[in-house]
Amino acid sequence: MDGGKEMCRKYLVLAGVLCIVAVNVGGCKSSEEETIKNIKIGVTLYDQYDTFLSEMMAEFTKYTADKEEESGVAINMEIMDASQSQLTQNEQVKSLIDKGCDVICVNLVDRTEPTTITDLAENNNVPIIFFNRELVAEDLERWTELYYVGADASESGTLEGELAADAFKTDSSMDKNGDGICQYVVLEGEAGHQDSIVRTEYSVNTMAEKGVETEKLGYAIANWNRAQAQTKTAAMLTQFDNKIELIIANNDDMALGAIDALKASQIPKEEWPGVVGIDGTDVGLNAVKNEEMLGTVYNDKEGQAQEMLNLAFAIATNGKTDEIPLLNGKYVRIPYHKVTLDNVEEYENK
Ligand code: GAL
Repeated sequence: MDGGKEMCRKYLVLAGVLCIVAVNVGGCKSSEEETIKNIKIGVTLYDQYDTFLSEMMAEFTKYTADKEEESGVAINMEIMDASQSQLTQNEQVKSLIDKGCDVICVNLVDRTEPTTITDLAENNNVPIIFFNRELVAEDLERWTELYYVGADASESGTLEGELAADAFKTDSSMDKNGDGICQYVVLEGEAGHQDSIVRTEYSVNTMAEKGVETEKLGYAIANWNRAQAQTKTAAMLTQFDNKIELIIANNDDMALGAIDALKASQIPKEEWPGVVGIDGTDVGLNAVKNEEMLGTVYNDKEGQAQEMLNLAFAIATNGKTDEIPLLNGKYVRIPYHKVTLDNVEEYENK
């Protein structure tokens, strides 16, 4: 064999060896990825009968099926209802850990009581994604693998205040007694819930910022619930003797309860107070379309469900979180949007 051929043979052998190494390295990586064929995600809800959450979970389940198809990873999902008991929820998290969940999504019952859950999670090295019911920032800092997916409560209050202020400024018939001041009542969600406290404060402050003078006649806590809101509104309609010009509800279900009370009252529809809500649930959007509600603020259940699933999937498959819009490495916040008669159809088809 001459020198040139010998040299050529050596290069071929070397190239072959490099090729085998490359295939092995690549092969090793892909076989590592391939080993994750199944993941298990646990979910515990504060109350499965909550309208917004049940709509959000329907989206979450739908995205899970899409994700399985797109990734080829089987996603075993277990969803539990804590029925408004923090003790029950703590037990559920323990059992979801025992059942081998790779990650657990927790819709806290009591947002001031996350420590049993965060301790369990850290001791067993199972990441937690809290959602919808926001805990205080210090509690989320207790361990690196704690996350929150939701929306910014102050934004929803601000947008609701803008809707109400615009309506009051453009429709003079809303000012029933003609004094230039908007007499209002508030229907509040659960006492102590981040969304109740912040939405109430920001909606009213925004009306003042937008130049509407307001007078608070009263308020009632109706726990996000339509039936409770109907009872409390009926009582306020009697108490304030047709003086209410605006009903600010912390969510759509309570706005609908107020509308139920108005329908059952003797007040003709053209004299009803304006009603504003938050969520854009199916029934809420329908009430905007029927012109029973002045407007609502869309709480993007699709966006929240999608990002929560993407984050849970990335964590459970040791995948990258680069494509998830994490703020401070911990928070995903999905924006709200104003909905009125003008754009309601856009949201009905989401
Ligand atoms: C809010 C939502 C309410 C209720 C509550 C439960 O964000 O607007 O309708 O679902 O969460 O925590």
